Amino acid sequence: VIPCADIVKCAARIGAEIRNIKLLGDLPDQTIAAINRLLLKHKVIFFRDQGHLDDAEQERFALRFGKLVPHPTLGAIKGTASVIELNSARAASRADLWHSDGTFVDAYPKVAVLRGVVIPIFGGDTVWANTAAAYLDLPRPLQRLADELWAVHTNAFDYAVMGRASEADKKHFEEVFTRTIYETEHPVARVHPETGERALVLGDVVQRFVGIPKYDGQKLFDLFQSHITAPENTVRWSWKEGDVVIWDNRATQHYAVNDYGDQHRVVRRATIDGEVPVSIDG
Ligand code: SIN
Repeated sequence: VIPCADIVKCAARIGAEIRNIKLLGDLPDQTIAAINRLLLKHKVIFFRDQGHLDDAEQERFALRFGKLVPHPTLGAIKGTASVIELNSARAASRADLWHSDGTFVDAYPKVAVLRGVVIPIFGGDTVWANTAAAYLDLPRPLQRLADELWAVHTNAFDYAVMGRASEADKKHFEEVFTRTIYETEHPVARVHPETGERALVLGDVVQRFVGIPKYDGQKLFDLFQSHITAPENTVRWSWKEGDVVIWDNRATQHYAVNDYGDQHRVVRRATIDGEVPVSIDG
């Protein structure tokens, strides 16, 4: 499908690497269409050796998948439309929580393009999980429950990661990430607008389920989320500098493993605008 490129699956349920391709903003339409088809099928696509990309060319490539959108509170790096930097020097940037990007807004991003800029000698992998396969894993009565439930997502979450952060990091997080509090409701099972698959919409920014007391909600959350994050439902990528990863944010969650101590790690992300999730009732 892509001239001269090789496609290599990375795990049974999620993830493929495309080799022998140079990502550029002006790739032919057929190549972009082929990458998009592979993205919809494998959910996350990895590319090595893309060290030629700078922020501008990363965005030109990302733009081929839709409209660039800045982060709701972090904005975008000067001179870019959507690029943010996740820099290990700030604990809140370590992203060591399971999430899909930006689900605390109504129309959260559909695709993200992440570039490895500074990669530690050891550690710092990212893990992605397939939320459509996780839905299919559920026994039918639990699928029906997911079909009915709605969850509240907010950027003012209070999960364990901040419990481990220093006071200065927490302050920075409050000042920057939660400068404006967002809160929205999403169906727990959304219908993917391009594949028609049902996928679970959860992650650690979920605060509660609509109409369910917190105590019961926590158990339901753990039950659904455990299907998403089961190791067999994931793929893990060991970064090298110049790698690029693109994922379908409507059918995945990801987690940046915080096991690199005080080494430096920097990744830069361009983000594509998404749609308001649609439940199975339309
Ligand atoms: C992200 O959450 O978008 C970044 C993941 C990473 O740092 O690997």
